[in-house]
Amino acid sequence: MARTNKIIAIDGYSSCGKSTLAKALAKKLGYLYVDSGAMYRAVTLYFIRNGVPLDDGRRVAEALDDIHIDFHIEPDRTWISLNGEDVSDEIRQMYVSDFVSEVSALRAVRKAMVAQQQRMGADKDIVMDGRDIGTTVFPDADLKLFMTADPKVRAERRFLELERKGENITLEEVFENLAHRDYIDTTRQESPLVRAADAIVLDNTDLNEQEQLQFVLDRL
Ligand code: DC
Repeated sequence: MARTNKIIAIDGYSSCGKSTLAKALAKKLGYLYVDSGAMYRAVTLYFIRNGVPLDDGRRVAEALDDIHIDFHIEPDRTWISLNGEDVSDEIRQMYVSDFVSEVSALRAVRKAMVAQQQRMGADKDIVMDGRDIGTTVFPDADLKLFMTADPKVRAERRFLELERKGENITLEEVFENLAHRDYIDTTRQESPLVRAADAIVLDNTDLNEQEQLQFVLDRL
């Protein structure tokens, strides 16, 4: 049966403002916002905490069976739980960012996350952001965006965000982490980050949040 709910897919490089735009859009349209990157980050946190070896298929499969991720929507914030624990802040720490691309390159991890993401989008109006939403998770999305921005501008934005949170980190380290993640995300075998043929490119290097929101609303 044809899908009747609406889906907006937002893909693009790390730290180019996907989640800020996705949240604003979801709020404006009354859709559910799903941060697919947070799911890969939660899996990564579990793998780090439990020392799951990435080259041991059996251990990876057991870990995935044991992992339960949920989004909790409250009036003032949405948070993510890993086996019942609020991990929203922990998954943004640099030690998770440093390892998340390796974990999310694993086929078994992607299969499990994509299945859960597709269930979430089966009957609700949603905005989902990530790397493979328009290509793999929802190839039939109603609107697809591919976001990009100057790498230096992305690193500066992310650096300021981490600095505000009190992380002790240099701009160079953030730049390196983004470059590393871009490289793995775009060259991995499983669902690499590529622009879907029918995705609209949004380069937000010189656009503020309101201008980006308007760019999308004009295309709905
Ligand atoms: O969006 P983010 O930076 O929080 O995502 C963290 C990592 O998760 C990113 O480096 C790549 C991976 N990811 C992915 O492989 N597929 C997605 N749909 C979302 C994120």
